[in-house]
Amino acid sequence: MEPTTYRSIPCGHLRPAHVGQRLQVAGWVRRIRDLGRFVFVDLRDRTGLVQLTAPETSPLYQTLKNLGREWVIAAEGIVQLRESPNPNLATGEVEILVETLTLLNTSETPPFLIEDETNAQEELRLRYRYLDLRRPILQQRLLFRAEMVRLIREYLRAHGFVEVETPMLIRSTPEGARDFLVPSRLKPGSFYALPQSPQLLKQLLMIAGLDRYYQIARCFRDEDYRGDRQAEFTQVDCEMSFVTQEDILQTFEGLVREVFEKMLGVKLGPLPRHAYQEVMQTYGSDKPDLRYSLRWERLSDWPAHAQIPFLAGKTLHWLWVDGAKASRRLQDEWQSIAKSHQATLAVVQKTSAGIQSSLNKFLPRETDWVGLPMGAEGIGLLVGLEGEKYAVLGALRSAVIKDLSLRPERDWAVLWVVDFPLFEWDAETERLTAAHHPFVHPHPEDLPLLETEPLRVRGLAYDLVINGYEIMSGSVRCHTPALQKQVFRQLGLSEAEMTEKFGFLLEALSHGAPPHGGCAFGLDRWVMLLTGGESLRDVIAFPKTASGADLMLGAPAPLDENQLKEVLRWIQPQE
Ligand code: AMO
Repeated sequence: MEPTTYRSIPCGHLRPAHVGQRLQVAGWVRRIRDLGRFVFVDLRDRTGLVQLTAPETSPLYQTLKNLGREWVIAAEGIVQLRESPNPNLATGEVEILVETLTLLNTSETPPFLIEDETNAQEELRLRYRYLDLRRPILQQRLLFRAEMVRLIREYLRAHGFVEVETPMLIRSTPEGARDFLVPSRLKPGSFYALPQSPQLLKQLLMIAGLDRYYQIARCFRDEDYRGDRQAEFTQVDCEMSFVTQEDILQTFEGLVREVFEKMLGVKLGPLPRHAYQEVMQTYGSDKPDLRYSLRWERLSDWPAHAQIPFLAGKTLHWLWVDGAKASRRLQDEWQSIAKSHQATLAVVQKTSAGIQSSLNKFLPRETDWVGLPMGAEGIGLLVGLEGEKYAVLGALRSAVIKDLSLRPERDWAVLWVVDFPLFEWDAETERLTAAHHPFVHPHPEDLPLLETEPLRVRGLAYDLVINGYEIMSGSVRCHTPALQKQVFRQLGLSEAEMTEKFGFLLEALSHGAPPHGGCAFGLDRWVMLLTGGESLRDVIAFPKTASGADLMLGAPAPLDENQLKEVLRWIQPQE
């Protein structure tokens, strides 16, 4: 029989103040313990656990004993103090002495333990995601995410941003990944693309006069999966009109500060700003993890340079790890990292016994080593580079941090990276490509170089980096058709290609586009970092595996024959 009410209070809310009251709870059976004189059942819902009990003398004793794990029940009874309280549980001082019990549903035996620490392989958990999501740790992350989105919405609303939805079926937007395509039934041979981001639509909203826009926007990129990448992910996407880069950075620095303070109770100081060139030379990465102060120094005039043949003609970069020691095996691993980047590496191990290094034979006297900044003991890495290929410095820095188990010096390192280059050189196609996307406004100081030395032109583009992750990215945009066309031309687009691909944008820019700019936060990544998740799958309700599959729904799936025939007709219409 259905009860008149299922519950009067959530499981996790029971406290000593309820003692003596008759209350109803409902949820899932987590565990049944039969101690002879009493039977105890842990009942779980989203808010937590509560203990139900019945003595041997109760008519419900057998019923409770015979419940199964994950069965769904409603129970009514009197709240009483526990004989032996559990200090680890919010409801640990009380229990419900059950008087009425309704079985709402049974359950198959779950294929894995529904606890924070589960023994199940990820594949099994994703196949039964609804059970996985019953684990409190995942529920807490989803609740954290929802709370954070609420906070972000409030902040943006208070700063004059309007939430606008943009379409999912659009034309390709270049963000550097492959598009997911949808064939059109009504226009056979034509395709929609799912948005890689709402980039162009938000710019059009600025031209429309919306002034400040935001959207919690789903984005689709058909790229290879990694721990911090999903094909389908969510951005907090924003755009503002009549703003300088400084206005944008200030606005979103405020948002970042608010999220850290309200979600974690962490007060951030003013966020440091680093130029792209500087972080590349110092940390070898445009998203350095600055929880570690470890940095590369450029040795511009080290006298011993000339004595070492394999370093001749190269720029020298030096990293010193005070007090550290590395085994031969680790040093060999670092050598292979250097090799895979076509860089030269010499490792210098200094102990109380002296210096051990492949450089010893070139630098026999103690004075030869002058100019390499070293402490009393520790390990140094000396890298010789040709050109500005700094990525090896980043790879070695990360390896050193990991291999030597260095401890972070702070919990949070949040910074801006600014002054990104506007273009990159693509050696394969032998042409310039957009470093970010092709709508970035060139740095005004570098405009004279746009035609002559494009690779030296900086963009008004910035990233927000937290603990080594790129959490947000944005820029000021080209807002005149002339400048936008100039950039397109540098990217090798002919007039015809510009019209074909971006005619609508150029036309819109010529109808009174205000100066504008914005950014997008990777919401999943940000939540993952703040909740201590290890993968985006920990903060997305229904994520995909590394091979792009939804194991629960069985997607992607083949089409049945008729559907396939139909789709093929849309893709390739027969004349
Ligand atoms: P961008 O491509 O840098 O910029 O994306 C912005 C932020 O989105 C997150 N992100 C991802 N998160 C999970 N999985 C992915 N595959 C993935 N790709 C990106 C990152 C990144 O910093 N339209 C521009 C923004 C702008 O200029 O306003 C854009 O999409 O955290």
